[in-house]
Amino acid sequence: MLNRKKLTLLGLLVILALLFAACGGDAEPTEAPVGEEPVDEEPVVEEEPTEEMMEEEEPPAEEEPAGEEEPAGEGEEITLRVLAGNVGQELALTQAAAERYMEANPNVTVEVVDTPDFVQDRLGVYLQLFEAQSPEGDVFQIDVIWPGDLAEHFVDLNEYGAAEVAGDHFDAIIENNTVDGALVGIPWFTDAGLLYYRTDLLEKYGFDAPPATWTELEEMAATIQEGEREEGNQDFWGFVWQGNAYEGLTCDALEWVSSNGGGTIVSPDGVITINNEAAIEIVDQAAGWVDTISPPGVTGYGEEDARAVWQAGNAAFMRNWPYAYSLGQAEDSAIVDMFDVSPLPAGEGGSPAATLGGWQLAVSRYSEHPEQAADLALFMASAEEQKIRAIEGSFNPTIESLYQDEEVLAAAPFFGSLFDVFTNAVARPSTVTAPQYNETSTLFFNAVHSVLIGDMDAEAAFAGLELDLEDLLGFETGAP
Ligand code: GLC
Repeated sequence: MLNRKKLTLLGLLVILALLFAACGGDAEPTEAPVGEEPVDEEPVVEEEPTEEMMEEEEPPAEEEPAGEEEPAGEGEEITLRVLAGNVGQELALTQAAAERYMEANPNVTVEVVDTPDFVQDRLGVYLQLFEAQSPEGDVFQIDVIWPGDLAEHFVDLNEYGAAEVAGDHFDAIIENNTVDGALVGIPWFTDAGLLYYRTDLLEKYGFDAPPATWTELEEMAATIQEGEREEGNQDFWGFVWQGNAYEGLTCDALEWVSSNGGGTIVSPDGVITINNEAAIEIVDQAAGWVDTISPPGVTGYGEEDARAVWQAGNAAFMRNWPYAYSLGQAEDSAIVDMFDVSPLPAGEGGSPAATLGGWQLAVSRYSEHPEQAADLALFMASAEEQKIRAIEGSFNPTIESLYQDEEVLAAAPFFGSLFDVFTNAVARPSTVTAPQYNETSTLFFNAVHSVLIGDMDAEAAFAGLELDLEDLLGFETGAP
């Protein structure tokens, strides 16, 4: 039951989320990398709610064998809280799904709680709740990189009916979400990095195809930027991407490095490979984009910052995830029918690489209603719901059959034409480094960021990074 105390807690949680969201884009994460000890950094919630949460502390779900809880009966009113993202249309679509669930389950109230956009900030909010073993969150939207780091806080969804539907989802994602035999998240949507390009401008400047290499992208971006500025648009830029010191930069930089034959930071078999010539060369090249073909502020950009410039018609190219497609085609967009997507460029002699992203739905061990929460998670991740999200928000399904669905393909044609990009995306080294992926990624994006902002060159940055990763992980170093 939702009592006043819980409402107060919820209020605090929302305030915390808003605080994180508000500072996310402007924060200087190089000085204070988030994610390691977020509790120490956020005294607001630490004091009061933690006490109250502890009062209400539930025994961990292990002590309550799965399946024992009765699904809420007719008379029993329960509230489930979904901690969800709010990038682009995410929150509105999640809210709409919650309403459909409530219609079919009139005794259940589903509250959708907005969490910060930036991955490390969102992780900080989640860790606060987990440390307090708080029942305040039931269903958590979790990143594809988190199952290994967070498994201990979630129930095994196989024990709550997921085993029957797991076979419909991409095998690789189910495998990613399985930790020590337990399915810690049901796949919700998958992601891969894409190159967005302006079809009208390519034509105008005589280019007949999107760039195949980063060097080609540089040349095309510079030509178009110069021409558009000469015609009077001083706000025009060649290329926008994610350069802030956060997880999004890990994704972009992994694409540069991997597409140049520089490996995946740490190899799947546990060798630290980042300190190599191909990685150094491409990150130095990317640093040259800042304040030439990309705005100086790009080193503070997240996905939504890049999209804002792009969607206002002020960029020739953008690196982003599929969600930006439906928004680019929406009524308030300045570039409707003036863009397309392609695989990202490659380094000279390399081949294109897209970072694998995506989100899962997990049920907290500290939930008071794990059975009903799992039912909600499975509903939200079902084929019907994934189809709605694919059509309305261009969120890639994790259910393979939806890639043959005509309505889905009509709304997002690139789900068909770029199918291989989605199935061959490069994973971040989250499984091999768990439970220290977040620290690994934080070291990596801070090293890359220091190169982007001109503090050091990539040779020095990656020599230091290699030592830091050896200390953190205790792995050998070697060639990619
Ligand atoms: C997207 C991806 C996620 C990634 C994040 C980085 O949300 O789906 O996997 O970690 O972007 O900003």
